[in-house]
Amino acid sequence: MKKEIKVDLDDKSYPILIENGILSECGSFLRRITAAQKIALLSAPAVYKAWGRELLKGLARKRFQPELILISDGEKNKDEKALSRILKRLASLGFQRDGCLVALGGGVIGDVAGLAASLYMRGIDLVQCPTTLLAQVDASIGGKTAIDFAGIKNLIGTFHQPKGVLIDPQVLGTLDNRQFKTGLAEVIKYGIIQDEALFAQFEKRPELILRRDPQILFRLISTSCEIKARIVSQDEREGGKRAWLNYGHTLGHALEAYFHYGVLTHGEAVAYGMWFAGLLSCRLRLCPEIVLRRQIAVLKRMGLLRKLPNFSPEEIYKKMFLDKKARKGRIQFILTRKIGLVTIQKNIAQPIILSALTQLRAEASERC
Ligand SMILES: NC(=O)c1ccc[n+]([C@@H]2O[C@H](COP(=O)([O-])OP(=O)(O)OC[C@H]3O[C@@H](n4cnc5c(N)ncnc54)[C@H](O)[C@@H]3O)[C@@H](O)[C@H]2O)c1
Ligand SMILES: [Zn+2]
Repeated sequence: MKKEIKVDLDDKSYPILIENGILSECGSFLRRITAAQKIALLSAPAVYKAWGRELLKGLARKRFQPELILISDGEKNKDEKALSRILKRLASLGFQRDGCLVALGGGVIGDVAGLAASLYMRGIDLVQCPTTLLAQVDASIGGKTAIDFAGIKNLIGTFHQPKGVLIDPQVLGTLDNRQFKTGLAEVIKYGIIQDEALFAQFEKRPELILRRDPQILFRLISTSCEIKARIVSQDEREGGKRAWLNYGHTLGHALEAYFHYGVLTHGEAVAYGMWFAGLLSCRLRLCPEIVLRRQIAVLKRMGLLRKLPNFSPEEIYKKMFLDKKARKGRIQFILTRKIGLVTIQKNIAQPIILSALTQLRAEASERC
């Protein structure tokens, strides 16, 4: 199983290559996508320990001798200290404009690597080798880079497209279950916004998905990457369609912040956000109740609806306004028309949102 997908952005276009075991063959891919002579490999200790050797083997086959930069990952390390460490190492290693940074890790490593690559000498080449499901289907594609700053998630960032994305689904073998499921939330999201057949996989083959069957995993990853690549190609800077990708994220981000990023994973928070978006869609008569029920059933089956701790609808409402994506003080919601089709809604009255939040709080604590 092998698939190559193009992110079509004129002179910034790049390939996403998905193949089991491709890490140990990565040298040829790199020779194809970058002319860089000097390479720095950025990773986190645990990821490097698990998969670094495979990647180095692949690079050595094409006579690359990368310098190694290790930093801690996890959201609490996505900060200016990590960025500064990378930039200092690149400087001390004498990297020039023709250098290339290869990121081997989850979304945190990918986002910080992207920011460092976009800043160093006004931009060097970047190659993403994502190792979490979330990074494979989402964070590594589309060129958004960031660190958290002044207590605000992703406050400092740039757009810097990679030269290529190399996805080896095999690396997910060492990923823990909760991290794996958090990535599944994004795949479910792609199904709801664009692709009913993708969504239906979760209804028809939940066991296989949870068992990480290689064939179905390959299908989920490649279809998700195709959808993200298509949307990014049409709207690089989020003026229009790219906002669809925020389905479930308006409430999801607010819940993550409300619980200080410790209680729910990103995917779990987004799962409740998708439930809430479905609820609002029904209340606004954009879709029939069955569309909401199907979403809740799949999210539950995938173990994404863990216990939602009590929250204040008013406080959450305030947090949603703080979201970077609240445009001119109005919250923008992506809502469902049917599975596979969403719509953007900007003017939803506060009482409707508060009452849907209250309903979610009651039903979520009852159900899970
Ligand atoms: N740039 C974008 O468009 C975009 C999109 C979505 C999310 N993000 C960002 O991605 C970040 C979250 O990414 P994440 O969920 O991958 O978190 P992460 O990078 O912190 O990784 C989660 C954990 O998994 C471990 N890990 C990674 N790969 C592993 C593997 N193969 N085997 C075993 N353990 C492994 C890591 O060491 C870490 O402890 C957030 O900061 C978010 O803002 C960015
Ligand atoms: Zn997300």
